[in-house]
Amino acid sequence: MSIWRIRGGRELDGSLTVQGSKNAVLPLLAAAILTGCETELFNVPALRDVDASLAILRRLGCRAERDSDRVYVDARPADGFALGRDLTGQMRSSVIFLGAVLGRFHEARIALPGGCELGPRPVDLHLQVMRALGAEAEMDGGDIVCRADRLKGGYILLPFPSVGATENAMIAACGAEGRTVLDGAAREPEIVELAGFLRVMGADIAGEGTSQIIINGFEPKKCVRWSVMPDRIAAATMLCACVCAGGDVEVRGLVPGHVRAVTDSLSSMGAELDILDRRARIRCHGRPQSPGVIRTEPYPGFPTDAQPLLMAAALQAGGTAVFEENIFSGRFRHAAQMARMGADIRLEGRRAVVTGVQRLHGAEVAAEDLRGGAALILAGLGAEGETQVTDPGHVDRGYERLDGALSALGAHIERI
Ligand code: EPZ
Repeated sequence: MSIWRIRGGRELDGSLTVQGSKNAVLPLLAAAILTGCETELFNVPALRDVDASLAILRRLGCRAERDSDRVYVDARPADGFALGRDLTGQMRSSVIFLGAVLGRFHEARIALPGGCELGPRPVDLHLQVMRALGAEAEMDGGDIVCRADRLKGGYILLPFPSVGATENAMIAACGAEGRTVLDGAAREPEIVELAGFLRVMGADIAGEGTSQIIINGFEPKKCVRWSVMPDRIAAATMLCACVCAGGDVEVRGLVPGHVRAVTDSLSSMGAELDILDRRARIRCHGRPQSPGVIRTEPYPGFPTDAQPLLMAAALQAGGTAVFEENIFSGRFRHAAQMARMGADIRLEGRRAVVTGVQRLHGAEVAAEDLRGGAALILAGLGAEGETQVTDPGHVDRGYERLDGALSALGAHIERI
């Protein structure tokens, strides 16, 4: 348990380079199991979820080492296909190992994942994907159990563009015989990244970034060296932080197209955005305006992961904002904590109506999930006085030293 202590009222000023992407590197670490060769990843962020993934790879028999931002995986000695809750309980995305383990060993037993309390985290689409590739896939107590003599390519139609189910389908289909057509696929940049990685491994894959991806099964033999893409949500976090606190911040290393929905919203609030090749400069002085109606959608719509972060930026804005959370059913837990700081938020099912207040005041609040915890820290930057965010470890799952990044920009933040 740690406590983030923030003293509000100080503007941010300076520039930073955004970390490597958590939601890109996790499926790459899983996919490394497929290859009968070595994998080297660069620009890997120092996150608890990455450490949890390395522990999972070791449990499966791989060699997995980290040396600063470089990770080395040798999956040749891998021989295991069962992951207990002691390992998968630390993060939701552990289900991403399902496709890789099944693709390599034709058998998998994965304890149901834990992770953020964003509402029920079903895995029915993951089971549907594995069955479509010829596997038996069932729940056995708290475990997902899959087995297949041989995975066979098939037709998969996802009723919802689930990011994780798309990633599991792509990885498992690489280990299947023949052609797989995946319709209704997620289009997130992390999907495009995974396809590029698999292609270097030898995969015959096309259509990533669209809602139809076609994969022909192959014998992955090639070693892969890969540099992880920038984290678009970490970039969005720093841009929203500047609206919360006011100031002038340049975020380097981001891909502007990946954060377009967020920068458009921040511009609508009156922030000045200069978007250049691989960086964005944001300036915000005085009271921002409300961002209006924000509807979270699959990419390229407004990302659900940035919903808490933009809400933090809207708490002191002039006017009323409406946040409609269409991806997760329980992703407003941060609202009650923000209300302790004086925020005016009315919850109505999937909607949160935020009426901007003149000034938030510091309070003792609790982080209940990764992005909600980050949002509370951001809200503290603009609040009067001191805010203490109690955190069982959520924020470190997704952010590489968020306190260091913010204090380098002039924020008064420390961790106890
Ligand atoms: C990924 O989670 C991300 N995590 C999430 O980021 C992100 O919020 C989410 O995609 C949506 O963009 C990683 O990439 C590690 P989904 P994932 O499957 O794959 C429902 C963060 O903060 N669903 O696209 O778990 C599900 O309940 C995290 O970095 C089913 O119904 O998300 C949800 O309502 C949070 N059945 C919706 O789909 C299934 O089998 C989207 O889930 C799977 C999902």
